[in-house]
Amino acid sequence: MASNLRFTTFIGILLAILLVGKSQPFSTSLPPSTFRLGRQNLTRLHFFFHDVVGGPNATAIRVAEAPVTNTSPTAFGFVAINDNLLTVGPDPNSTRVGRSQGMYASADFDEMSFMLVQNYVFEDERFNGSTLSILGRNPILSSVREFPVVGGTGVFRFASGYAEARTYFFNATNGDAIVEYNVYVLHY
Ligand SMILES: *[C@@H]1O[C@H](CO)[C@@H](O)[C@H](O)[C@H]1NC(C)=O
Ligand SMILES: *[C@@H]1O[C@H](CO)[C@@H](O)[C@H](O)[C@H]1NC(C)=O
Ligand SMILES: *[C@@H]1O[C@H](CO)[C@@H](O)[C@H](O)[C@H]1NC(C)=O
Ligand SMILES: *[C@@H]1O[C@H](CO)[C@@H](O)[C@H](O)[C@H]1NC(C)=O
Ligand SMILES: *[C@@H]1O[C@H](CO)[C@@H](O)[C@H](O)[C@H]1NC(C)=O
Repeated sequence: MASNLRFTTFIGILLAILLVGKSQPFSTSLPPSTFRLGRQNLTRLHFFFHDVVGGPNATAIRVAEAPVTNTSPTAFGFVAINDNLLTVGPDPNSTRVGRSQGMYASADFDEMSFMLVQNYVFEDERFNGSTLSILGRNPILSSVREFPVVGGTGVFRFASGYAEARTYFFNATNGDAIVEYNVYVLHY
């Protein structure tokens, strides 16, 4: 009888441990009101991206290349890291709205096309400190390129959408470019 009692106590303690475990669940269903679901905002952002690759003040710098990069017609395998200025107008002296920090790499053997990964860090009042993340294929000679918005932070939590890029200016001598962006973002 005594051993039966000990067994029952043991089972009781085991159940208690399991119940305590349950009070800290791994996943929880939250009510839609938590994030104003259904009241999604659609925001269009329009800005210019300054890809300065030449000169002493370059903001996009090649950091790596492949053994084939120099002989490849598409410079296959080179990787650049950038911290580029974003402004409201094409003039780099126009009002700045943030930076675009990320990298791009030549990733197509046949066409000039980059794999593009960028985090836009906004400074403008309403979006100050918020970020948007972009990931996509950038065939740089096409007149319009489209990249998915893969997420965001701050005002842009839960962001989805797309970015359209158009080359506004390109200096074939030093490679500098100014790219116009229209970004359509759904967020809460
Ligand atoms: C979303 O839109 C509402 C009005 O429709 C506005 O009051 C609110 O500030 C917007 N939120 C963001 C984060 O832009
Ligand atoms: C580089 O930046 C420095 C400091 O802002 C500036 O004085 C200089 O004129 C710039 N050089 C070029 C080539 O833009
Ligand atoms: C931007 O302003 C600087 C002086 O602040 C000037 O030297 C430069 O030429 C301006 N650039 C453009 C594109 O207007
Ligand atoms: C953005 O936030 C930083 C600190 O987080 C602040 O220093 C700066 O003044 C803010 N800019 C604007 C335009 O509100
Ligand atoms: C293109 O780059 C070259 C070399 O840096 C420079 O001399 C020239 O002024 C630039 N052209 C334009 C239109 O900015």
